[in-house]
Amino acid sequence: EGDEDLEARPPVVTVMGHVDHGKTRLLDAIRKSDVMAGEHGGITQHIGAYQVTHQHEGTDRKITFIDTPGHEAFTAMRARGAKVTDIAILVVAADDGVMPQTVEALNHAQAANVPIVVAVNKIDKEGANPEKVRGQLTEYGLVPEEYGGDTMFVEVSARQNLNIDELLEAVLLTADAALDMRANPNKDARGIAIEANLDKGRGSVATVLVQSGTLHVGDTIVAGTAHGRVRAMFDDDGSALTEAGPSRPVQVLGLSNVPRAGDTFFVTADERTARQIAEKREAADRNAALAKRRKRISLEDFD
Ligand code: GTP
Ligand code: NA
Ligand code: MG
Repeated sequence: EGDEDLEARPPVVTVMGHVDHGKTRLLDAIRKSDVMAGEHGGITQHIGAYQVTHQHEGTDRKITFIDTPGHEAFTAMRARGAKVTDIAILVVAADDGVMPQTVEALNHAQAANVPIVVAVNKIDKEGANPEKVRGQLTEYGLVPEEYGGDTMFVEVSARQNLNIDELLEAVLLTADAALDMRANPNKDARGIAIEANLDKGRGSVATVLVQSGTLHVGDTIVAGTAHGRVRAMFDDDGSALTEAGPSRPVQVLGLSNVPRAGDTFFVTADERTARQIAEKREAADRNAALAKRRKRISLEDFD
């Protein structure tokens, strides 16, 4: 594709960190900080991902947050070779400091070459020691800017909504410095399934992240072994959409079944092609499962 077709897209961010260090609370605080939120007036839905708008140097910039537990998103999606995240926010509680899952999370991010912004959370708590967190993470190669490194640390309180804007600013500065966040919106959509479930009334409800191209209502897609025509699309604020461009998370209705987190999706020429691809994948999955079972039996036989 020619460079002239590439346009700036929002960074996609996941929040990772040790149990109870405040990932969910921080995602809530970020969502509430959305400067555009007042304009929607819709019903906020949980769709596994959302976008916020942050004012950066006088312009409105969008940031996409993946709302599933960062760790699971990483492991499940990376296991399928999917790269969903541009930036990881590593949450470390300032009273607890670096814990085993902090290290696991940063290892995942570093292995995937994903830049990290550190949110030193719970600075409102007695016993908070952000300086200790800086020292600890330096030993893992996350050297704070204040120490001459290139990792941004932001002291926040998710509970008190403290420094949330500063955190979003750090995300954009890090993204702008480290990444080329552009995609071509003028082609068929491709992307990744974030989460999906079967709804009694609506059938398969899948949250997908468009990574390139533009997804339209009426497009035929394959997502893992699910296929179908996009019947309707919704934003995280519940509003219906007719199209979704790069970095946009949307809820998609109309698939034959439920894709898995990390399944890639793409647009096909027609419904028949989509069904055939999905059926081929299903057969391949079945054969792989069968082969695995046979192998297990034969190994036991020769024990
Ligand atoms: P898991 O999903 O279970 O790994 O936890 P989590 O990382 O999502 O943490 P969660 O947001 O559930 O927060 C854990 C606890 O810490 C809750 O009781 C929060 O209210 C509390 N908490 C989160 N952020 C802050 C903060 O900034 N200050 C204080 N004092 N408490 C916080
Ligand atoms: Na928790
Ligand atoms: Mg949580």
